[in-house]
Amino acid sequence: MMKKRTAILISGRGSNMQALVTAMQEPGFPAEPCVVISNRPEALGLSWAAERGIPAIAIDHRQFANRMAFEARLHQTLLDHNVELICLAGFMRLLTGGFVDRWRDRLMNIHPSLLPAFPGLDTHQRALDAGALIVGCSVHFVRTEMDSGPILAQAAIGVLPGDTAETLAARVLEAEHQIYPLALRLVASGAVRIDNESVLFDAPVVVDKPLVVPRLAATH
Ligand code: GAR
Repeated sequence: MMKKRTAILISGRGSNMQALVTAMQEPGFPAEPCVVISNRPEALGLSWAAERGIPAIAIDHRQFANRMAFEARLHQTLLDHNVELICLAGFMRLLTGGFVDRWRDRLMNIHPSLLPAFPGLDTHQRALDAGALIVGCSVHFVRTEMDSGPILAQAAIGVLPGDTAETLAARVLEAEHQIYPLALRLVASGAVRIDNESVLFDAPVVVDKPLVVPRLAATH
């Protein structure tokens, strides 16, 4: 089996990157990590990747005159590593239409909300402020508009009394670490098609019981 050469783009601690790399190390996983790139040289995830023998490259966006110049270097670095798939994993830099189009349907992102709800920053506080009882995370193919594109996988969790943006973020992050490897596995194995901007799976997908919140304790 030819494993899909996968780049992971980060800006910070890289916990999703770690989940992806760990999954890719499982025997039979249809993708392999070939480069980790950060637009922030100080990103903690870079050293984690380098310690595991994965090429880890900083491309500091502040060193470039404009977005196009930054993206041209990013694109060339991806070509230099023969990249086939890209996973944005906490990569906090908007990508322009030119870059997104060049990697169309090969470029994925994870976002900590149930898209299309709450795109952008500060998702957990906004969800709490809106009174949402179910929140979660989404993996999607990237389109030009921020946090938009065909959705590959989502996970939902219930909001608990007393939850804060921090406690929600921590529980959602655990779910992120489950669905990103799952989505990458599906894409890399060729089980995914996009039809009319919706994702179709050429594989059986089991849908669990609905998550109902609040779920009241049984009374007798
Ligand atoms: C994750 O929660 C990810 O979903 C979010 O940044 C965090 C990165 O954490 N991404 C976005 O908000 C993108 N719009 P990590 O560096 O530990 O993976």
